[in-house]
This record gives sequence, C-alpha cells and structure tokens, in this order.
Amino acid sequence: MKKYKLIGPFTQLVTMEGLPKRGPIQDNELTIYSNAGILIKNDIISDIGSFADLKKNTAINETEIIELSGKYVCLPGFIDPHTHICFSGSRAQDYALRNAGKSYQEIAESGGGIWDTVIQTRKASEQELTKKIVQRANTLLQKGITTIEVKSGYGLSVEEELKMLHAIRSADNLTKVDLVSTCLAAHILPNDFIGNHKQYLETISNSLFPILKKEKLTNRIDVFVEKGAFLPTDVYPYLKKAKAMGFDITIHADQFSTSGSEVAVKMNAISADHLEASTDKEIQTLAKSNVIAIALPGASLGLGCDFAPARKILDAGGTVAIASDWNPGSAPMGDLLTQACILGTFEKLTNAEVLAGITNRAASALNLTDRGKLIKGMKADFNLFKADHYNEICYHQGTLIPSQVWKQGVLVHKS
Ligand code: NIG
Ligand code: FE
Repeated sequence: MKKYKLIGPFTQLVTMEGLPKRGPIQDNELTIYSNAGILIKNDIISDIGSFADLKKNTAINETEIIELSGKYVCLPGFIDPHTHICFSGSRAQDYALRNAGKSYQEIAESGGGIWDTVIQTRKASEQELTKKIVQRANTLLQKGITTIEVKSGYGLSVEEELKMLHAIRSADNLTKVDLVSTCLAAHILPNDFIGNHKQYLETISNSLFPILKKEKLTNRIDVFVEKGAFLPTDVYPYLKKAKAMGFDITIHADQFSTSGSEVAVKMNAISADHLEASTDKEIQTLAKSNVIAIALPGASLGLGCDFAPARKILDAGGTVAIASDWNPGSAPMGDLLTQACILGTFEKLTNAEVLAGITNRAASALNLTDRGKLIKGMKADFNLFKADHYNEICYHQGTLIPSQVWKQGVLVHKS
C-alpha cells in the first residue's frame, strides 16, 4: 500500500474553514476550491488544493492517484449530533394516535410514549441492540453521515443504561461510522422506580456515574427538562455532580415548554437541543451564551409542530447545529440531510448555514476538533456528490445523496 492517496479533481471542494463560530453565515463566506484535490496520509488530510498542483508536487511512487471523471462536489462528512438510535420496538401506534389528534404528552400519560420503548428496549439483549445500532448507523452512512451521537435513555436503571452504553460501544467497533455516546438516564422517571425524581437522580449519579468514568463509556450527560420528565429543581444537583466529575452537559430543552434552555445556560452546557417552544427571551439568553443550539427538524416533522427558531437564534448571534433526533417516538424518520434541507426552507437559512449545521458547527456541538472541515490535519471524512455546485445538495432536499462516502481516508460507500 502506498503512503499517500490523492483524489480529485472535484469541480468544487467546500472546506467549511474560516467560518464564523456564531451568528449568520452568508453563502459567499464559504471557501471553495475549483478543480481541487485532497491528499491523504493514513486517515488524515495531508493537503488540499489544486488537483493538478498536488499531482505535480507529490512523490509519484509513494502516491495512489484516484483520478475521477465527471463533475463532483466535495464536502466534509456530515455529523449528526443528537440521536437515540439505540432502541428496540416501534411506536407506529403513537404516530397514528398523534395524527388522529392525541398529543405526545397525552399518549405518554396513558402508558405509551418513552416508557413503551423502555419496555421494548429492556427486553432486547445487548447483542440485539448492538445489531440495530449498526444497521441504523450504516443507513445514515449511505447519506454521508460519518459521525453520529447516540444516547442511552431507554434503560432507566443502572443495569439497563449500562446495557445500552455497552451496546453503543460494541456498535462503534462494528460500523465504519464514529459513534459518540451520551448517557440520558434522566430521560423520564421510570414507572417501576419506587421513590421520587430526586431519589432516582441520586441513585443514577451515585451508582452509574462512577462506572461511566471507570469504563470510559461516555463523557456526556443529557437530561430531558420538561413537565412530565424532569424539572429544573430536580436536575441542578444532578448536573452539578456530573460537571464536578468532568462530564460535558447537554440538555433536551424547551421542547414543549420553556425552562430547559435556562438550565443549559446556567450549567454552561455544550448544547441545548430542541427549542421548538423557545420564545424571544430564551433566544436572547441562548444567543448571549456559549451554548450551541441544536435544531431537531425531524422531531418537528414527526410531531407536526413548529421548527426551532433557528433564524432568530442566528440573527441574535447564537450558533445553530442540526441533528436528526432519530428515535422511535418523536422523530422516526432518521434522515438528517432531508431534515436539514427542509429546516433551511422553513427557517430561511442560507445553504452555508444548513451545511455548517451538519459539519463544522455539529462538530463543535460534540466538542470534536478533528473533523467537520476539510483542512490539513483533519480526519479525511468527506462526501462526493455528483453535481457541479454545492447548491444542488440543499435544492434536492435529501434526494441527492453522496455517490462516494470516505471515512478516515477509505472509500466506505459508493452508490
Ligand atoms: O428528543 N424529548 C425527549 N426525548 C426524545 C423523544 C424520545 C421518544 O419519544 O422516545 C426527543 O424527542
Ligand atoms: Fe432527543
């Protein structure tokens, strides 16, 4: 095997470098190379630039040259920074009931909702869950998603949450996609827990957190702050403990009612996700903070409700990443690219803002500094679309899928 790989030429190589970390992004701020190439050494980008120049300057006997014919647009591998793809069972019945007029919360109160998925997921073995995660991750990979955050949260006991997090780790070893795990033991109060919210969170933080650290199962703690889930007063001690132990915090915030985003800001969370119910007050608070807003258009499409106010958050100076929230309840579609494009049309986001939301800004939402941009030193994770302009990608709303997906310098999917 040769030391380097050179691939190109690409009609456009969109690097996502040099973009503002927060606030709006105009399309003309994108750095675009024409007739470009990427030089790869092992799994890392060694150089980018004009394909002809790279070819001329590279040591021919040390380089495998992959010369493409036709028009291609090259973009960083996409990053889905919020999913729940570790689950078993279907909630098609919930979906039917919602469309027939029942609310998400009414369904949960009558025994459906998250608890239903907890029952199904507890019945599944760790191996079965691993297999399901790998299948779902590989489906996302075909649409160019090369990094996926995956939450626990359908176990809701120390043992069952560990089963989920072990399954996520095993799946990470079996798929080409990188999986970033998060502990969402504070999803809802489990129906079979004897005691109250405070006692449950104490049990989790005292018994589960140390194991998460010892086994290096995750570095991220998530909480669903909502009526019917956990209230701010319940979660502050839990989150303080998590922070003191060195975990990053992320919050399911302002999905149906406000208060979660304030918790996120007060706890200096890395992200506040959902925000469909955020009003101008929450938008301003978030935009003034370092918390990254993660819009979850798949949950809006799954529940038939408003999109997160992404435009207003950006205009107020905040940062917006976009995720699929793929889960069996609120967001069963699991198609990040389609959802990000649709969010763009409804929220009036520039294509640069949409693409940043699933590349460099999504990387920041997961604290990943080695991906999300195509520059020297970054992981060689990239997508090739058969197109002559990056505008084609958002325009096709998810039906233009990458014809090649490269992960860490290796072609992992071709269509
Ligand atoms: O992000 N809101 C809380 N959690 C998930 C839904 C989980 C479920 O319904 O199973 C969400 O929408
Ligand atoms: Fe979620």
